[in-house]
Amino acid sequence: MNDMEKDIQTVLITREQLAKRVKELGKEITADYAGKEVVLVGILKGAMPFLCDLMREIELPVTLDTMCVSSYGSSTVSCGKITIKKDLDGDIRGKDVIVVEDIIDTGITMSGLLPLLKERGAASVELAVCLDKKERRVRNVPVKYIGFEIPDEFIIGYGCDYAEKYRNLPEVCVLNRAVYEKK
Ligand code: IMP
Ligand code: MG
Repeated sequence: MNDMEKDIQTVLITREQLAKRVKELGKEITADYAGKEVVLVGILKGAMPFLCDLMREIELPVTLDTMCVSSYGSSTVSCGKITIKKDLDGDIRGKDVIVVEDIIDTGITMSGLLPLLKERGAASVELAVCLDKKERRVRNVPVKYIGFEIPDEFIIGYGCDYAEKYRNLPEVCVLNRAVYEKK
């Protein structure tokens, strides 16, 4: 057992399950966006593994961009405000944007970001998330592509972190409670 494996409570989604589902999503996106100018916008840092796998299953000449955002304020605030730590490099005017995210939880971050990208003149803005903690949602965010619906557990791996660690775990795992309860 390595230094990360001891902090795993359970493996929720295996490498094989991830690969199979990501392939399906890539096929769907390929069919849905034929003939369009697609920009995949990966949300740093969590989306990196999902983005890298997903883009290679899309058989269209997509371009890539990244953003780093964080949400702040309480969930009772009606307008989801976000802080942009790193903005897009390119212009998305007239482009069909697919925002690629590791996990959607309350939906606050994406409910702040998606309207902002639409305001910049994108032809369309859709969302692809690897993991969806549906029961935790407080904002109604339309998610076009969902990898897996998952229960309300603290997730690590395949991009998801705890205190910036474990993003490199190749499987989607539940964090051992002892890791955060001892703090
Ligand atoms: P939301 O605004 O509540 O939807 O938060 C989404 C962001 O919170 C995700 O992009 C993750 O960075 C983070 N997040 C939510 N749940 C988890 C989790 O279980 N593990 C790690 N990060 C999480
Ligand atoms: Mg994230």
